[in-house]
Amino acid sequence: MPHKIVNKNQLSENVYRIEVEAANIASARKPGQFVIVGISTEYSERIPLTIAGADADKGTITLIFQAVGKSTAEMANLEVGDSIDNIVGPLGQPTHIEKFGTVVCVGGGIGNAPLLPIAKGLKEAGNKIISIIGARTKELIILEDEFKAISDELTVVTDDGSYGRKALVTEPLKEVCSRGEKPALAVAIGPTPMMKFCCLTTKEFDVPTVVSLNTIMIDGTGMCGGCRVEVGGETKFVCVDGPEFDGHKVNFDLMMKRMNAYKDLEQEALDKYKE
Ligand code: FES
Repeated sequence: MPHKIVNKNQLSENVYRIEVEAANIASARKPGQFVIVGISTEYSERIPLTIAGADADKGTITLIFQAVGKSTAEMANLEVGDSIDNIVGPLGQPTHIEKFGTVVCVGGGIGNAPLLPIAKGLKEAGNKIISIIGARTKELIILEDEFKAISDELTVVTDDGSYGRKALVTEPLKEVCSRGEKPALAVAIGPTPMMKFCCLTTKEFDVPTVVSLNTIMIDGTGMCGGCRVEVGGETKFVCVDGPEFDGHKVNFDLMMKRMNAYKDLEQEALDKYKE
C-alpha cells in the first residue's frame, strides 16, 4: 500500500525528515521500534529506519534518514505528495522504559534521530535526562531544539569545535559518570565506533548501557540472517531480538567487520545511480 509523504524538511547536508501516512504503524509503534521501507517496487532495497516520532491522530509517522547510498539518495529526491511503495512495521522490540532515576542519553550524528523518541519516552516515565549530542561539525548537529525541550541538561559537542564544546561525546560522558551520583542508565546511539567507545567508558563506571544497532537488514523477520550480531557470545538478530542490546555485551569489532564487507558494493550502486 502506498504511503503519501505529507511533510519534508532537510535537517543537515544529507539528512532529511519526512512525515508519511501510515495510520496502523502510528498507533501501534513504541519508542525504539523501526520500520523497513521499500521506495518503489518489491525489488527495491529495503531500508531499516527508526520511527523518530508518530502522530496517531493524524495517522502519520516521522522518519529521519541520511542520504548515504543509492536507495536513501532516491528517497531524498521524493517530495511532498509523492508516495513510498511499502512500509513494514513496527518491527523490533520496544525500548524497556521505566523510572530508572538519571539517564544519560548520548547521540552521534544521525543517531540522534533514533535516540530522540527513546529519550522522550524515558523523560515521560519520570527520569532525569542528561543529553549529550555530537557530530563531526556544526552543520551535522541535528535535533538540538528537540533535545533541549526534553532534557534536564544538554551538552553539544563537535569534533572540530565549530559548535558547542570541542570534544568527542565520550568526554562529557565520562564526566557525567564520574559525578558523585552516577547515572542509573546510559543510552548510546550513533556510528558503531562511537557506541563501542561509549560502552568502554560506561563500563569503567559500571553504568548499564543500552545501544541501538544499525546493521544491514533485509527481511526484518529473523529469516535472512543479514542483521546477525554477537551479543554475550551468542548470535542475535537485530531485527527481532533488538535493535537494542546491552552495549557491554556487544561484539562491536565483529559487527564493524561485517558492515564494512558491503561498503564497496554500496558505493558501486550509488555511483551507478548518480551517473
Ligand atoms: Fe533478516 Fe534480521 S533482517 S534476519
